[in-house]
Amino acid sequence: KVNGLIADMENSQPANMDELEQFRIKYLGSKNILKPLMGEIRNVPNEQKRDYGQLVNKAKQVAESKYAALKIELESAAEQASAQQLDLTAPGDPLVLGARHPISATWNRIVRIFERIGFVVAEEREIEDDWHNFTAMNTPEDHPARDMQDTYYLKDSTSMLLRTHTSSVQARVMKNQQPPIRIIAPGRVYRNETISARAHAQFHQVEGLYIDEKVSFADLKQTLLYFAREMYGPQTDIRLRPSYFPFTEPSAEMDVTCFICNAKGCNVCKYTGWVEILGCGMVDPQVLINCGIDPEKYSGFAFGMGIERQAMLLYQINDIRLLFENDVRFLEQFKAVL
Ligand code: PHE
Repeated sequence: KVNGLIADMENSQPANMDELEQFRIKYLGSKNILKPLMGEIRNVPNEQKRDYGQLVNKAKQVAESKYAALKIELESAAEQASAQQLDLTAPGDPLVLGARHPISATWNRIVRIFERIGFVVAEEREIEDDWHNFTAMNTPEDHPARDMQDTYYLKDSTSMLLRTHTSSVQARVMKNQQPPIRIIAPGRVYRNETISARAHAQFHQVEGLYIDEKVSFADLKQTLLYFAREMYGPQTDIRLRPSYFPFTEPSAEMDVTCFICNAKGCNVCKYTGWVEILGCGMVDPQVLINCGIDPEKYSGFAFGMGIERQAMLLYQINDIRLLFENDVRFLEQFKAVL
């Protein structure tokens, strides 16, 4: 009878995992049919008890090894079957490429233009103190720029704020380094402004600062002409209009010739042919003194521009809010922009 069971086991050929499970329950489960065989040893004549015992043990071992072998067999068969179901000729899932954000693209473009003439990038903190953002930059206590309405102060603080311009980087760099200084400082700035198509409470600027012996207004003008032509095309001209900033003297605002204009006129330059792109000037000697630089020995120029403004001109975007909404239908249009 035991030999018969062993033969059954050896011949059994489960076709799938369910049948294999039946095999396991029958021969190896908690109520398997081999269990009662040991009990039957009582009925076996004494001289055969030993052989019988060994035979029953052998039946158990056969059950175990047969089960293990069958399992491996069925599993690898299942693997092969599913591999055959793979259609290796099917087209792959498309790898969707993203696009650089127009602010990043413009940021990089500006930085590269200035790097080519020896400016190095300086990045600084967005949470600034009053001194670096205002005092060092020659902005008096009662200056309107300090107004609570323009500046975001940190909660319960009168001296810590979100920087309102990247000019704070000028102060940080000059305090730590003696001339020659030639830096370009891109970064995020904040102002408590009502958000509209033209203005946002959070935007980006690039600051430029050059301090050395005998730096002149002519150097400023030539540097900015170079920038304007690299940025907006070789046919671009610039125009400097007198202006005022507390930290530069003299100060100017720079316009570039409008390249969007056509015969019908243009809503970018309002038919004037000129668009304002940045503020600039010769660093006020008082700023140099505030930051530990000798104004008798050194002079310099500084400029600051909004990155959004350049991006909007470059890509003809008519609403600044588009730059912060992250609508993919908008962002996807910049896939070709490096
Ligand atoms: N900080 C000025 C602004 O935010 C720009 C500027 C920078 C002007 C450097 C002159 C020199 O408008």
